Amino acid sequence: MRLLLPHPADLSADDLVTLYAPPDRTTPRVRVNFVASLDGAVTVDGFSEGLSGPADKQIFGILRGWCDALLVGAGTLRHEGYGPVRLDAARRERRRDAGLPEVPVLAVVSGRLDLSPGHPALAEAPVRPIVLTHAASPADRREALAAVADVLVCGETEVDLGAALDALAERGLTQVLSEGGPYVLGGLQAADRVDELCLTVAPLLAGPGAGRITAGAPTAAHRMDLAHAVEAEGELFLRYVRR
Ligand SMILES: NC(=O)c1ccc[n+]([C@@H]2O[C@H](COP(=O)([O-])OP(=O)(O)OC[C@H]3O[C@@H](n4cnc5c(N)ncnc54)[C@H](OP(=O)(O)O)[C@@H]3O)[C@@H](O)[C@H]2O)c1
Repeated sequence: MRLLLPHPADLSADDLVTLYAPPDRTTPRVRVNFVASLDGAVTVDGFSEGLSGPADKQIFGILRGWCDALLVGAGTLRHEGYGPVRLDAARRERRRDAGLPEVPVLAVVSGRLDLSPGHPALAEAPVRPIVLTHAASPADRREALAAVADVLVCGETEVDLGAALDALAERGLTQVLSEGGPYVLGGLQAADRVDELCLTVAPLLAGPGAGRITAGAPTAAHRMDLAHAVEAEGELFLRYVRR
């Protein structure tokens, strides 16, 4: 892989891990990771897989390796077939060396709670996951999910993502990585809680049809600064940070 910006350089696997290290673990930080096509599609044939090459998967793993909590919308969890969060031995060791738990905590955002407590991402999670919901969600489903996850109520009729992030930070989960999906990014934008966007630009034109990386009610625009750009086999990895 090659670093293009802020200065050209070849990157070893270790360099790449260091490049994505959070600047400061004491300050709460929300990173969002997405892959999109050149023409802005968030999926090909309905899934992100068609957009993601080997280098994207490598960076996806590196980002997971640095976070305290992995924030994901119930839609993405259901649709993309999430399993339990697992990291390879090298990433777990790096986390131990950095004084972190071996595996980050999965935090799922859901209003309807159409999630089975037997879902592998919850039932087989290596650390007890968190479900972030709101007060109007079905009480019986909250109760059922409480068998396998800590269920946190944040908001009255929708999940207040600002409050949810504050609740995670109170548990010491300050470095949050969101892997989407689009409604979670839209909600984070509405709450003005996007500190960083790691965007993979996949070298293909997907054509019309698919959605964008963000969805939901319109929000104000926020200008971001380019922190780095990496290239590998035509894929671009752009890291933009809050101005
Ligand atoms: N290209 C990429 O990098 C990438 C990444 C992720 C996902 N995707 C794609 O995105 C699509 C899935 O996205 P999606 O439309 O289902 O969006 P999503 O943001 O993954 O999930 C939406 C669901 O999350 C819950 N949710 C999110 N924000 C909420 C809030 N503030 N309050 C209450 N509930 C909230 C709701 O769950 P309930 O329905 O349970 O209430 C809602 O239906 C898939 O096609 C997937 O492949 C692509």
